[in-house]
Order: sequence, then structure tokens, then C-alpha cells
Amino acid sequence: MTLDSLTAHIELKQHKEEIKNLHMRDLFNQDDNRFARFKIQGPGFLLDYSKNRVTDKSLELLIKAAKEAGLDKRITQLMSGEKINLTEGRPALHTALRSPNLDQKFVIDGIDIHQEIRLCRDKMTNLVSDIHNKTFLGYTGKAISTLVSIGIGGSFLGPKMVTEALKPYFIPGLDCHYVANIDGSDIIEALKVIDPETTLFLIQSKSFGTLETIHNASAVKKWLLEKGLNNEQISKQIIAVTSNNEAAIKFGVSENNILPMWDWVGGRYSLWSAIGFPIAFLLGMKNFESLLHGAHEMDNHFSSRDFKHNIPVIMGLLGIWYQNYFDAGSYAILPYDHYLQYLPDHLQQLDMESNGKRVNQHGIELNYQSGPIIWGGVGCNGQHAYHQLLHQGTRLIPSDFIIPIHSHNELGEHHKHLFANCLSQSQALMQGKSYQEALDDLLQSGMDVSEAEELAKHKVINGNQPSNTLLLDKLTPKSLGSLIASYEHKVFVQSVLWDINPFDQWGVELGKSLGDHIYDAMEKPELINSLDKSTAGLLDIFNHNRE
Ligand code: F6P
Repeated sequence: MTLDSLTAHIELKQHKEEIKNLHMRDLFNQDDNRFARFKIQGPGFLLDYSKNRVTDKSLELLIKAAKEAGLDKRITQLMSGEKINLTEGRPALHTALRSPNLDQKFVIDGIDIHQEIRLCRDKMTNLVSDIHNKTFLGYTGKAISTLVSIGIGGSFLGPKMVTEALKPYFIPGLDCHYVANIDGSDIIEALKVIDPETTLFLIQSKSFGTLETIHNASAVKKWLLEKGLNNEQISKQIIAVTSNNEAAIKFGVSENNILPMWDWVGGRYSLWSAIGFPIAFLLGMKNFESLLHGAHEMDNHFSSRDFKHNIPVIMGLLGIWYQNYFDAGSYAILPYDHYLQYLPDHLQQLDMESNGKRVNQHGIELNYQSGPIIWGGVGCNGQHAYHQLLHQGTRLIPSDFIIPIHSHNELGEHHKHLFANCLSQSQALMQGKSYQEALDDLLQSGMDVSEAEELAKHKVINGNQPSNTLLLDKLTPKSLGSLIASYEHKVFVQSVLWDINPFDQWGVELGKSLGDHIYDAMEKPELINSLDKSTAGLLDIFNHNRE
């Protein structure tokens, strides 16, 4: 069912008109228990959603919409492996990857998915332990200490974000470089600092056909040949994660060094599979399994809790509230933890590639907005940059503040200040500052009345900007697993309410094929005429300036 066909949709529209002028300051003043009533303790973190423009009635109506949209049934379909990715005829089984019950059968289309995962996990465990135990060695017999992970999109951002987030858990002496872009500078900078004798190259590509990845992998192969390695030595120093064994073997990866990927895992949901190899390499299998365990606990929470006490459901519904009833348009992810600096990038891909859709599951054009623009960055840095717009800009921008109680690096009073700043931002966004408060402050500072009256106008902050606070005890593999899984399910909840398929990504295909055509036109000038005049003009300048 589409959002606009739900009876709750009409009620939500009316309700928005009723409460649009309500200020969160007043909501807090009227209810001492608001914090206690609008928070959920989940696995991994506590969600405080009290600083949102919602009343009990708002929540009641949002939950009513979720029920009308059949969210219960859709969660069951997701978890049980139904082919809910309609346009590709596949299930979306990332949750199976974190199941602790891999010894129990889970058969889809005659294949025991759990067994496939178990076999892959065993192979990954053996490979990682051989590297750590120094039985898997480089071509000159030296131990492997560096990984170069070559992959893009979902085959890059998830592992990159997780390994950055869990740096305090790194096994000493190991490091990893990620190479994603076709921009030659990306790989050149990595090759400058690595030693081929102690480096393992990992090609991460579900399709083993992605332009950027294949070109970077070929550049590595060429570089290794230039370093004097023969093909046999190269094939031992490269491993791959892919569902296209044939292409990987043709490229020169030895069959033993291929870890599987399956079509039932989407790229942006794949860090839990062997695509998470860099995580296991840098942190060890035990920490990788803790990450999976944290995610599994969130899966259980999501599939068993009633909607009112269900973190991903509440996060998803609040996002819909602002996107569809307040015309928000964007959503900020604001982690107050240096190690979470790549979380906004990962969530941007997760959310925008999943819910950036303009037709419903049956191909009918939507009459309402779907996924918002996801952006953000680490605090406090953002406070000295874009937070100005959050506080005094003209847009409503909901945000998530994410912060741990305990830091891995307390460093004197640093973490207490970080925590205070995080709270001060969500408080300022909620409360704002009235004209009278601004004026009183200026007068108290001794400013002359007419000057103060003028300046106070510029100091007004309306407040009433909604935010969630996600409070972790500490950033650990387990709590991070729960955190990431909560966002995956939030995105799913929203897709159900919008009636879209979050598991395909057809939109990225056009640019890829046009890119191939433009590349061909560089070599064959007669093709230039088939391009539009702007593209042809720019290509012409490129060609002339490179002659
Ligand atoms: O172009 C988008 C995309 O298909 C993503 O969905 C995917 O994660 C990425 O490219 C990389 O694809 P592959 O793992 O097949 O190289």
C-alpha cells in the first residue's frame, strides 16, 4: 500500500496542522516525564527521541500508518527470506549473515543458506588465522602485515567505516589501505607506501565487473609484474571476494583464494559477509563475530519488539514524519566520536541507494517524497561549520547525535567536553533562544538599548529543530554492530511505508553505460556526433588539450 492510500496518512496531515506551532520547549515544560517516556533502551545503545516534534497522538498515528502498511508482515518476509527484492527476484538476507544458528538449516530455493555462510566463514577464519599465524606468507617468505582492499560502493564503504570505527581493537603491526576510485591518484598513493613482499591484495567485487575495481586490480597486477613477480607468485598474493568465480580465476586469482558472495546480499548490506574481510584481518575473527552478534541482537529487537518500543521502527517513522509531513528533505548524521567519522558516508550510501526511488514496488510514480538527502560529519567539527544552518537556517533538518559515554581516549577533560558539546547542540536545537532572551543578554553585557534591539534580531534562534540522541556505553564491535543494523532496519521500515523496493539500484546503471559510450567516443571521434552538444563540446576540449 502506498503512503497516500493509508487512512492514517490523512489523519497525520491533519494532525501536523494541529501541532505545527507547538514548540518542544512547551512539550518539555508540560511533561516532566517526557525524557523517561520517549526513550528506548535497545541492544548496543539507548535511543532518546524526546527532542522530536511529536506528541502521544503523533506516535499513535505513525504507528497506525506502519500497521496499515503491513510492516509486521514485511518484517517477517524480510527475515524469512521471501523474494522481496521484486525487480531482481531475490531475497535480502543480510540478517542471515549474523545468525548465531548457522548449524540449523535455512533453505532458500533448495540451497541451505546457513551452510553456505558457515563454509564461507570457515574459509575466512582459516585464511585470517593463517595470515596472523604467519603460515600464509608473501612471495619472499615474509609475513603479511598490510592489506590493500580494492573495491567500491558497498564493497568498500562498510568495511572502511567499521575498521576506522574499531581502530582501538586493531592487532598491532597490521594496517589496511582502501583503493576505490578510478582516479589513478587513489591507487598510486597506496602503492607509494606499501611493500609488495608483505602486502596482500584483496579484490572486493560481487560482480567482478565493476569498472573502477577491475582497473585498479589490473594496475596492481601490472605493478607486481614490474616488481619482478611471476603470475604464480601474483596469484598467491591476491585474494578475492566475489560471486563471479569465473571472472576472478580468469583475472588470475587462485581458486583457493576466492571467498564467496551471493546474489541475496546487496552491496550496501554486505559488510557482514566476506566483504568484511578487512575487519577480520585487522581486528581478528573474534571481534568480527562480536560485530555480527551486536547486529543479530538488533535483528531480534527489530523482529520481536512492539512498534512503540522498537528502535528502528521509531527512527524510521520519525524520519517519515519530517520527510512527508514537514517537507524536511534532508537528514543529518552527527557522530560525536572521532572513530565514527565515516559513519555518515556509509549511512549515506545505505539510505540513498536504498530509498532514493521514484516509483513504488509496482512501477507506479510516487505522489510523495521518498528518501531524504543524508549528510553529516563528526562533532564538534561540524559545530564550527554547518551547524550555523541547523540553528538559524530556514530549513527543518532532523538529525541524529551519536555519542559514547566512555571514550577509548578520555585524555583529561576532553571526553567530558565532547559530551557536553553534544548535549548542548541538541539542547540548543530544541530550545532555541527567543528575542527577549537575546535582548536581555545583550543589555546585561552593558550594550546600549537601541544597538541591543538591533543585534538581538540576529541572535534569535527559533529552536524546535528535532533530533535523536543515540547513547552508547562505549564504541565496541558489538555496540557498533547493533548501531549499523538499526540503521539498516530503519531504512527498511521507511521503504515499507513508501512502498518501494530498497534492495535494487537501477538508477546507477545509466551513468555507467553512458560513461562507456563517452570513453569510446574518445577513441572514435565519429561517435562524438551521437552525444548532446554540451557533452560533445566538453569532450572536444578534453581531446584537443591532450593532443
Ligand atoms: O554502482 C553501484 C554498485 O552496484 C553498488 O551497489 C555496489 O556495492 C558497487 O556498485 C560495487 O559493485 P561490485 O561489488 O559488484 O563491484
